[in-house]
Amino acid sequence: MSTPNEAASCLAVILAAGEGTRMKSTRPKVLHEVAGLSLVGHALKSAEAAGIGRAVVVIGPDRPDVAKEVTRLMPEAEVVEQRERRGTAHAVLQAERAIASGHEAIVVLFGDTPLVRPETIRALAEAVRQGKTAVAVMGFQAKDPAGYGRLILDGTDLVDIREHRDASEKERAITLCNGGLMALRGELALDLLKSVQNRNAQNEFYLTDCVGLARARGFSARVIEVAEEEALGVNDRVQLAACEAVLQNRLRERHMRNGVTLIAPETVFFATDTVIGRDVLIEPNCVFGPGVSIAENAVIHAFSHLEGATVAAGATVGPFARLRTGASLGKGAKVGNFVEVKNADLGAGAKVSHLTYLGDATIGAEANIGAGTITCNYDGFHKFRTKIGAGAFIGSNSSLVAPVIIGAGAFVGSGSVVTKDVPPNALAVARGRQVTKEGWADQFRARPENQVRQKPSR
Ligand code: UD1
Ligand code: MG
Repeated sequence: MSTPNEAASCLAVILAAGEGTRMKSTRPKVLHEVAGLSLVGHALKSAEAAGIGRAVVVIGPDRPDVAKEVTRLMPEAEVVEQRERRGTAHAVLQAERAIASGHEAIVVLFGDTPLVRPETIRALAEAVRQGKTAVAVMGFQAKDPAGYGRLILDGTDLVDIREHRDASEKERAITLCNGGLMALRGELALDLLKSVQNRNAQNEFYLTDCVGLARARGFSARVIEVAEEEALGVNDRVQLAACEAVLQNRLRERHMRNGVTLIAPETVFFATDTVIGRDVLIEPNCVFGPGVSIAENAVIHAFSHLEGATVAAGATVGPFARLRTGASLGKGAKVGNFVEVKNADLGAGAKVSHLTYLGDATIGAEANIGAGTITCNYDGFHKFRTKIGAGAFIGSNSSLVAPVIIGAGAFVGSGSVVTKDVPPNALAVARGRQVTKEGWADQFRARPENQVRQKPSR
């Protein structure tokens, strides 16, 4: 996370110690996902995208699962525990060692607020770097301000933040609210945080008190205002879905602006990390899980589901196709309807047009895989690979029992169960030979024991 740009001397402190009771879940709140990424992952990624050089994540006690997710996404991030929930300032102070190590700005992010844009983080950090402003707060006009801290202004100066519970009637009428994100001048941060008291309705150490404390030291505070949508936090599953909707709209718009055609954008769902090239066409009702990359001019037909898959230029997928982790389609390859591909490479121009399962396989360029082909990759204990050479032709309804190799240019007769390797350019037929008995049906019907029955209608 050491992007060599202007925000590199900032420290991000991500608060993720919340219990998330209203999620009614055994999973901690910050591990719930929107657009294929955990909430805490969104905070880490937006800090990273803002160019912040270092991150500390404050987690609740006994949360190895949260620590693991943080490390998975950003191995160099530091994880600290807040043993007791004593307020947002107390939570930030758990990162004391990192804060003391000298940064121009400390940016506090909430692990449950996934829609914050990197530009906002940068603007906050920038605001406290020099001059009189030592505290910057992300503010927004709330349609319903109940529950939020109110931003009290004097002109454009932020004078104080009053939590809803501590606010007077007059203060409660204010609709400009605290979105939670805050930047503190680095050299002042520890002094401010350590001066916070807990004399308030909740007996908590409020981060928001840093505003008044900075002013008492002759500095000023200001608000960076954003749309309400950006400040949306997740406390329950309804808000989780609301965040998902906002994020999906952003992703759809981003891809369309980058040159991707979406016929019915509202029916297509992306992951945060989906990569799509120019002139890709995506038909309605497609879902992209994490780790998908699609190159230019590919077509994803309706009702396809992709995750962990790579699709090269000009390839076509679907309708009704499923590409699972490790599926890789070469240039111009075709995966048609009711085909599932997992951990398999398809060479350029390879075709698998209908009703097929390809798992743990390598398919050569221009190979043709007939309808109903199955790679039998699993014996109940282990997985085995199937290799199909370039230009091979697999007849319909064949079972390829792995490990097995079909040589380049070879043919497999349809209906075969292939258990032995097939040399290049050979034909393998592995099915019962057809037996035809002329007139057999009439003799059968004529048997005395079949006379009582009604003749089958023809
Ligand atoms: C906070 C702000 C409020 C703002 C609102 C925006 C304070 C005092 N108040 O209130 O002004 O309008 O967010 O949503 O900051 N956390 C910890 N440890 C703690 C306490 C909190 O890690 O001891 C974390 C929570 O997990 C959460 C974040 O800090 O991610 C905010 O805490 P929360 O309890 O939601 O604060 P609010 O009451 O919503
Ligand atoms: Mg909250």
